[in-house]
Amino acid sequence: MKRYALIAFVSLLASLHNSAAHEPITTKVTFNKEIARILQRSCWGCHAPGKIRSDIALATYEEARPWAKAIKEEVLERRMPPYQAVKGYGLFKHDYLLPQRDIELIVSWVEGGAPRGNLNDYPKPKPAWALGKPDALLQPDAPAEINKAEEVRCYSLATNFAEDRWINAFDFVPGNAAIVQRAAYLIETPANKAACDINTISPDLLGTWQPNEAPLQFPHDTARRLSAGARIKLIVHYRQTNPDDKANDQSQLGFYFSHEHERQPRALRNLWLKPLTTTLLVSDKPQRVLASQTITAATEAVAIRPLLFPFGTSIQATAHFPNGTSEVLIWAKDYHFAWQPLYVFRKPVALPKGTRLEITAYLDNSENNPRNPDEAPRSVTFKEPLCELLTAPLALQR
Ligand code: HEC
Repeated sequence: MKRYALIAFVSLLASLHNSAAHEPITTKVTFNKEIARILQRSCWGCHAPGKIRSDIALATYEEARPWAKAIKEEVLERRMPPYQAVKGYGLFKHDYLLPQRDIELIVSWVEGGAPRGNLNDYPKPKPAWALGKPDALLQPDAPAEINKAEEVRCYSLATNFAEDRWINAFDFVPGNAAIVQRAAYLIETPANKAACDINTISPDLLGTWQPNEAPLQFPHDTARRLSAGARIKLIVHYRQTNPDDKANDQSQLGFYFSHEHERQPRALRNLWLKPLTTTLLVSDKPQRVLASQTITAATEAVAIRPLLFPFGTSIQATAHFPNGTSEVLIWAKDYHFAWQPLYVFRKPVALPKGTRLEITAYLDNSENNPRNPDEAPRSVTFKEPLCELLTAPLALQR
């Protein structure tokens, strides 16, 4: 008898608590209609059950409601989604930033009492392959068992192409999205066969992937050439909080062939910009590091990726054209090493012969930088480039 009374009392408390948590509803914006769509596009790649930040799952109303205030704060401060390309500097297919309208909808939803809305309005799941079924699908023969907290694994994958192929788009689908932190894929060569480095920098690099990144789709008349019989080296960086749980992964790489049937596509190439200085002495403030390169044959920039080190804080790439004008290609104002997608330009940027590319980066190896992995300030020597550009020759060479 006593026990029943206790249960009734507890449930009364719970319902009191619930109604206290529910502010009056003063907005028409609902989770199931507007908010879930925004989160699906910009957040669920990381914040959903089975993804890398499933501890902050935002996929259903029940999951997202307790985070409502935090979501508002993160998007207003532009900390989430965690990308740094500043709007207005470079025009990209995906800049991964929330449009102002989405931020306003989130604020209105949270301040208006964060209502659930009608379940019928909840968005349909997105297909795993955003570009449709790939023309060629590569995957390791068997699932790999990942049993360390952090690990980089390399897989050698056969393409089995009987003839040379032009690839216009790539996509990567993690087998186990809870533990795949990053991936990179390149053409396997005798020179790179033995190494297994997720930060690999090589002319054979085809692409990289990280959670929430869109497929790499290049302008329709550009492509990567793969020779008949080529092998692909897939590098996957795993991270898991509980390695005893024995996680498996069998990730997949999808290739989409070029549809340029009459003429040969323009071959994409990687261009890396090397820093002019490679040593940072101990300092108590961010230090400027420059890179510069002059284009010797007319080309087009198709995509760009700012590349710094964990202690990098900001990077800007500018093209100075021979006619005296300049254009900022990208500005990652608050650089974050963990999130470095390849930004594909909405329209390729022509780089005539004589264009000078200039990178201004700030690196901060001081104690003031919370992202500096070193506990005590020390001087740092590096040789890695500061920026990657994907380019295609301007004129078709036939
Ligand atoms: C690429 C992965 C990724 C994407 C996309 C992403 N997040 Fe996050 N989010 C993280 C990580 C990682 C953290 C942990 C904090 C950190 O390390 O910066 C986090 C933390 C958070 C937190 C908790 C902050 C706190 O109070 O500690 C909230 C809320 C959040 N994200 C909301 C969002 C929303 C809303 C979106 C989409 C608009 C989003 N995130 C998109 C990776 C992501």
